[in-house]
Parts: sequence; structure tokens; C-alpha cells
Amino acid sequence: MSEIVIKLENLTKKFGNFTAVNSVNLEVRRGETIGLVGPNGAGKTTVIKMIAKILRPNSGKILIRTNHSDLQDLRHVSSTVSQIGFLIDIPNFYNMTAYQLLKYFGKIQRYPKDKLNNRIDELLTLFNLSEWKFERVRNYSKGMVQKLGIIQAIFHDPEIIILDEPQTGLDPLARIEIRKYLRELQSMGKTIFVASHMLYEISEVCDKIALINYGKIIGFDTVENLALTLKTSELNCDLLNPLGAEKLASLLSRLAERLKPYLDQNLDPNISKIPIKYNPEHQGLKLYFDGKNESKGEILKILVKEFESDFTVVSFIQPRTTQLERIYTQMVRNNTPEGSTKLKGDDSKNEK
Ligand SMILES: Nc1ncnc2c1ncn2[C@@H]1O[C@H](COP(=O)(O)OP(=O)(O)OP(=O)(O)O)[C@@H](O)[C@H]1O
Ligand SMILES: [Mg+2]
Repeated sequence: MSEIVIKLENLTKKFGNFTAVNSVNLEVRRGETIGLVGPNGAGKTTVIKMIAKILRPNSGKILIRTNHSDLQDLRHVSSTVSQIGFLIDIPNFYNMTAYQLLKYFGKIQRYPKDKLNNRIDELLTLFNLSEWKFERVRNYSKGMVQKLGIIQAIFHDPEIIILDEPQTGLDPLARIEIRKYLRELQSMGKTIFVASHMLYEISEVCDKIALINYGKIIGFDTVENLALTLKTSELNCDLLNPLGAEKLASLLSRLAERLKPYLDQNLDPNISKIPIKYNPEHQGLKLYFDGKNESKGEILKILVKEFESDFTVVSFIQPRTTQLERIYTQMVRNNTPEGSTKLKGDDSKNEK
């Protein structure tokens, strides 16, 4: 396992008597991509601002390993600027052109002067902003400003990249680009910590998910491991040819009977009334099973071997996004303090 580069120890932040971040413990290892996910007001930005030293914790510690030093208390690290790149909130840039702005950032970050212009061009090209190089940032669209914020965060090629909602305001193509770029950064061995509401983006790029709610971490693991807490998991099974309407009911009941040991028999009716159904539009079967890998293997075997004369399976997948959506919904819903909506300023019982 690689070494820990960020460690949060009982990290706590209060605003007045309201606890925004409540004793958070988290470890991020070199090369990992961690997604910090949680509802509005959960404390994501507050955590990131403490790592960026914009906010000071009330108690607890942040330990950071920069370059090849030991883990050090962030309070004693004089400057994190050169090793960590941050994108926090919607960037508010001045009345400068992208070129002027990036040159300014490059200088602050002591980027080698002779390479500055090349780096600016390289990043503007990567984010499709080259044509806007000499345009004032105030004339940019929201998504373009966001891209510039990401460029600014990675400009100096930091080891650790911390992004707060990098995909906010981006159109689908730009989101795909950002995802691609995050993957490139991953392949370069960077450590990435990203707060986001976009469960799809997060499930696509992150190794692990940290779920935060009411300032507390309520889950921290891979999507697959978090999914073990789900009582039911979904499988989509695409078929080569559509199923004929005349035999459908009897086929579904044969399937339900044969797959009974593996299917979820106590399915939440909000999810589905029956554990196996046919979707004619997608020409596929949707199954709700107990989530065990062994069951998945058995289901596939049965569908392929025993139902060979009924249909041909062309793909068999357990969608990660819906899984993360369901984990998120289940964990966040079950975590409402005392079963009621907590109001800000009414938190005295939950405070230490
Ligand atoms: N400077 C501040 N003063 C008072 N309360 C604050 C301050 N900053 C944040 N808060 C409160 O702390 C809580 C956590 O806010 P934070 O911005 O960290 O949430 P978030 O998870 O980033 O939410 P979002 O998804 O909406 O960005 C919220 O209730 C917020 O109102
Ligand atoms: Mg936020």
C-alpha cells in the first residue's frame, strides 16, 4: 500500500455554536483519487478550506506529506502552495486576460520563467481555451471560468490536487474532457481529492468515496465495498433479440423461480415490485439480487446455460452509478439526526 499523504485527525470546525465539520478522520494515500460526496451544507468545502489553510480548525489536526518528507502537521508547513493545487469555490478572476492571469499564477508559484509561456499554451490547448488566451476573463462563460480555475490548480504540476466541485457549470463535453484529464493526472501518479455532487463523475474516476453528512464521515471505501451495505443490487442483462410478448410471462416466472435463491425477495417496493423484469426498450432483463459476487456468478451461469434456448445474453453489468446513487440515498437518509431535519443553530445536542 502506498504511503499516506493527507491525514485528517478528529478535524472539527465550528461556526459559532454550529458544528460544520465534526471530528472527521480520513486518510488519503499517494496516487489515490478520493471523492468527497455529501448533500449541500454537509461540510465538504469547509474540509477543503481547512486543508488549504483558508479556515483554521477548532480542534483536530491535518497532516500532510509533501515531496518525500514525513507526515507533518499542516500548521508547521510553511507553504503548501508548491506541492498542492487547489480549486475552491467558483473562481473570481480579475479584469485580466487568461494569459495575464496564468502568467501571474505561474509567477506566484515560481514556475520556471523560461517554460511559463509553453505551459500556458499547453494547458489552454488542453482545455480548448487557446482562442480565448487574450480575451478578458470577465467575458468568459461560467464553464470557461471553471476550466481556468482547474488550469490554475494544476498549473505548477503539484503532487496533490484538491478540487471543490470541478464540474460545476460545465457542459457534458467539457465534463468528459475534465474526466479524461483527471484520468491522465491519475496515470501520472497524482493524488486527487475531489468534492462533488456529480455521482456519475465520481463513480467513474474515484478509487474511494468518502460520504459526508452533517459534518461527519458516514462511509469511506470503494464503491464496491460500500455497496455491500446495500440490501439489494441491480444487474442489467442485455439480450441479442427481443423477447416475444406471447411467452414473456411464463419465461419471467420460470426465471424468477430458478433464480429465487439469489434474487432479493424482500425488495423495497419503492425500487421495484418484482425482482426480475423485462425492459422491451432496452431489450434487456433487469434483476435485483442480494449483491453477493457468488450470486452474480450463479445468475450469469444459469442465464447463459439453462436459458440458452430462450435468449442470448450479450452483456451483463452491475451499473456503478445507480449503485453509488443508492448507497448515497440509503446512507444519507438513514443518517438524519434523531430522524428529523436538523436546523442550523440547533445543533447543541450533537456538539461535543
Ligand atoms: N463562514 C461561515 N460562517 C458560518 N457558517 C458557515 C460558513 N461556511 C460554511 N458554513 C456552514 O457550514 C456548513 C457546511 O458548509 P460547506 O460549505 O462546507 O458545505 P458543502 O458540503 O460544501 O455544501 P455544498 O454542497 O452546498 O457546497 C453549512 O451549513 C454552511 O452554512
Ligand atoms: Mg461546497
